Amino acid sequence: MATITLKDIRKSYGSHTVLDGLSLTINHGECFTLLGPSGCGKTVLLRLIAGFETPDAGTIAIGDQVVTDSTTGTDLPPNDRGLGVVFQDYAVWPHMTVFDNIAYPLKLAKVPPKELKERVMEAVNQVNLTDLEQRLPSQLSGGQQQRVALARALVARPPLMLLDEPLNNLDANLREEMRFEIKELQKRLDITILYVTHDQEIGLAISDRLAIMDHHGNIRQIGTPQDIFETPADDFIFRFMGVSNFLRVSYKDNLIRVGEQNADIGIPPPSPGEWMLGCRPSEIDLAKEGPGIGGIVKRASFLGATMDYLVEVDGVPLRVIQDTHQAFDGGKLLQENQPCRIAFHAVHWFKPGADSPASNGETTP
Ligand SMILES: Nc1ncnc2c1ncn2[C@@H]1O[C@H](COP(=O)(O)OP(=O)(O)O)[C@@H](O)[C@H]1O
Ligand SMILES: [Mg+2]
Repeated sequence: MATITLKDIRKSYGSHTVLDGLSLTINHGECFTLLGPSGCGKTVLLRLIAGFETPDAGTIAIGDQVVTDSTTGTDLPPNDRGLGVVFQDYAVWPHMTVFDNIAYPLKLAKVPPKELKERVMEAVNQVNLTDLEQRLPSQLSGGQQQRVALARALVARPPLMLLDEPLNNLDANLREEMRFEIKELQKRLDITILYVTHDQEIGLAISDRLAIMDHHGNIRQIGTPQDIFETPADDFIFRFMGVSNFLRVSYKDNLIRVGEQNADIGIPPPSPGEWMLGCRPSEIDLAKEGPGIGGIVKRASFLGATMDYLVEVDGVPLRVIQDTHQAFDGGKLLQENQPCRIAFHAVHWFKPGADSPASNGETTP
């Protein structure tokens, strides 16, 4: 089975602890993303799994085989781990053709010429580089070069691939296209992928499950893309997963109190007391009048399909995105300096001033 099991992994450089007791299981056949801010330890973790680095403590198993165990000194070299690896700086060799680049791992493994040719051409076709195999990397686009790196990792037919931000050097359109291709490839070849990135959109788009890591190398939540987006475990994750608004409120006698206002917003926090109301720009319903909290429009930008508002409540700015057609049809189009009413499609409740694993975020739909 192409699984990865990490137990209590610790890794420090000098006095800097990067990973401190990290445990994680990646299941057979899934596309699992490790998502976290820059510098949080993602590449270090991949290098530990690939065998380029040794942890200070902990065990790593790939399938049934323990490849690293600090207590017994077990530490299999990278080539014996059965992994395909693509790093961010995907370094294809500039003086070798596409064919030779991809064939390189098989030549090292002394695969006979006929089989070598078949397998290289299979990998070429898998990543849609057909007919380009005699070109040099300089005659390819950035996206095509990245596919060469992917094919070179795939040619050994590994059941497990580690991908470290492989799309960073590509422009936005290509990145979008390639992420669908990677997902499609993973399903077609039935391989397990561990994908590492700081890009939330890629994480949501390609993953069966993802783990969110914070700046200290701690995993804060593991779940499906829907879990992470709809039920963030804490305000760090809510913040990290896109544009977010926060409003400090108190809750008493079934009413939300903001500044001098008392309002029933229909989605109360779990208990009376001080709360941080979190909501995304698209989770606010803005109107000229009606229920909710009173505010004032500070900025109104027409972006074609959507209206992008900046609204102020008790001195706190909130970003609001509204569908332009719905705003037109509902007579809800608002001008700058106009008073408005703020209602909510969804609200995420957090304890104020938390941003720690113990913040105990609760979400109501
Ligand atoms: N070989 C090394 N020596 C010292 N510090 C390192 C080394 N490799 C990584 N680090 C540090 O570990 C932390 C995590 O790095 P990295 O895993 O590359 O982050 P990212 O999540 O962006 O991939 C960073 O603070 C980095 O400076
Ligand atoms: Mg990195």
